[in-house]
Amino acid sequence: TCMRLRSVVRVTSRALSNAVEGQRQVAAATDEDPGARRTFAEVQKERQEQAKHTVLINCPPNVNEKKFLKYLSQHGQIASHFFYESYGTHAVVEFLDKESIESLRSGTSLPTVENECSLPFKSRLFTLKSESASGNVPVLSHRQSALPINELIQKLCKAQNIEEQAYALLEMHQLTDESIRLRFLVSSLVKDIAAAYFPEATVNPYGSTVNSFGKLGCDLDLFLDLDDIQKRSAVKTTGPFTTEYLTKRVPSARVATQRILSVIGECIDNFGPGCTGVQKILNARCPLVRFSHQPAGLQCDLTSDNRIALRSSELLYIYGSCDHRLRALVFTLRCWARVHGITSAIPGAWITNFSLTMMILFFLQKRSPSVIPTLDQLKGLAGKEDKHIIDGHDCSFVSNLNTIKPTQNSEALNVLLGDFFEFYGNFDFSKNCIDIRKGKEQNKPEVSPLYIQNPFEQTLNVSKNVNQSQLDRFVALARESAWIMQEQSSHPVQKENAAWGLGTLLLPSVFQGIGKIKKKRKRGPASDRIKSLLDSLKTNGKAR
Ligand code: GTP
Ligand code: MG
Repeated sequence: TCMRLRSVVRVTSRALSNAVEGQRQVAAATDEDPGARRTFAEVQKERQEQAKHTVLINCPPNVNEKKFLKYLSQHGQIASHFFYESYGTHAVVEFLDKESIESLRSGTSLPTVENECSLPFKSRLFTLKSESASGNVPVLSHRQSALPINELIQKLCKAQNIEEQAYALLEMHQLTDESIRLRFLVSSLVKDIAAAYFPEATVNPYGSTVNSFGKLGCDLDLFLDLDDIQKRSAVKTTGPFTTEYLTKRVPSARVATQRILSVIGECIDNFGPGCTGVQKILNARCPLVRFSHQPAGLQCDLTSDNRIALRSSELLYIYGSCDHRLRALVFTLRCWARVHGITSAIPGAWITNFSLTMMILFFLQKRSPSVIPTLDQLKGLAGKEDKHIIDGHDCSFVSNLNTIKPTQNSEALNVLLGDFFEFYGNFDFSKNCIDIRKGKEQNKPEVSPLYIQNPFEQTLNVSKNVNQSQLDRFVALARESAWIMQEQSSHPVQKENAAWGLGTLLLPSVFQGIGKIKKKRKRGPASDRIKSLLDSLKTNGKAR
């Protein structure tokens, strides 16, 4: 037991230090000033540059890594590479120079297939053919999806306290460097398709891929940006004349977006290697093209004319970098909400991850002293270069992380988590609206059950879709969770092999009969229920 415990301590303290290290890497110091943390724009730019130098290669099973790298090095120096599994083994290979990709292309042929014809679209996706290069040692494959919940709970059992559990969960769930590279590569491949029509267009990932709250396996939100084209075309020339392009005209910017997305969607469908299940959802509030990128194993949503969402992603990134507890809390609560069906992958009347994150930010602003600044405070710190007005909405806030003062609040994560449940278990949703701009409750401007003010389009409600029964479920679950957290601190449980702390909160069946909690208080103590559930979990674990 002693040895076990020692290894447990090692595992969890490593998880903790890795999580903190990851945090540091997200906003790592620049070369010029070792103390300075990089801005969101700098991080994005670097990732985009990396992606331009990168190719995706479908490899034969048991490819010999050494021979593979030697073969590719003929085309130029390799900066980095890794393997993963998605419909077979794939390698992401980043070359030091872009010319290496041209060299690789020049030696690549189009496939000849019997009874079929291949469309001659030459992308940066290749298939490696080999007759003899298989190796005895399987290549190390990088995981691209999150652990199943029962495996996660078993791992959490090994931590020393709830705080360590939250950091361990963060480390197991957050996007890895490899996963982010793959996502930027897919974005860059989609850009190549869009460039067939709009050579100057850019495609940028947004949402959880870049906002530092992405979980392994989450969708890839892509933003097709044609705005820069307009800016670049405004170059002044001298003389008595000016010229402008003769263009087609449509009744509104929305119709323009729909036309463009429709055509790009057709291109992705017809020519995009590995792109399947293309759906054009052009009548949505925010028109989009949804498709699956099979070689990357990613579900993609491509939108355009959606610059405010890009600003929201940067805002969340700034908040994620403000305090190390924040991301651990958000990942924990996102996981909790998902396990209990409060959030869902399917759109509907439920709370979304984005809304839940807004609620967590608001709660942290309300602590005393506050853990994170309000959006108005971040706006107050903004420099000239941070001024952004989009469609008449002021989306300005500071981009330089070094100007944000660290918080004086030092509450432990488990305290914040327990108090989050209490806060929303008792929140007066019928009267109040959540507003992260002011960090204060406001009177609800209309009757939606849950009102979370959109931080930038201030007359909109981010959670307009949520109905009363979904809100009631959230409140009931928050109350039950607050109670379980209290129980956990007053009756320390037998930790060896038993779910405790976060593990308990993440067991779906602990919360049977949610909504009837008050009547069900006569049930045995949570710890008994947890114990029997854990026994069944262990049996399931063995059966797998
Ligand atoms: P995942 O659930 O991990 O995909 O989180 P996500 O943050 O990527 O959410 P999602 O894919 O639903 O949306 C992508 C981005 O669009 C979010 O990060 C927000 O910036 C924005 N967004 C999503 N929902 C809303 C909303 O209801 N209102 C506003 N204003 N923006 C939203
Ligand atoms: Mg997303």
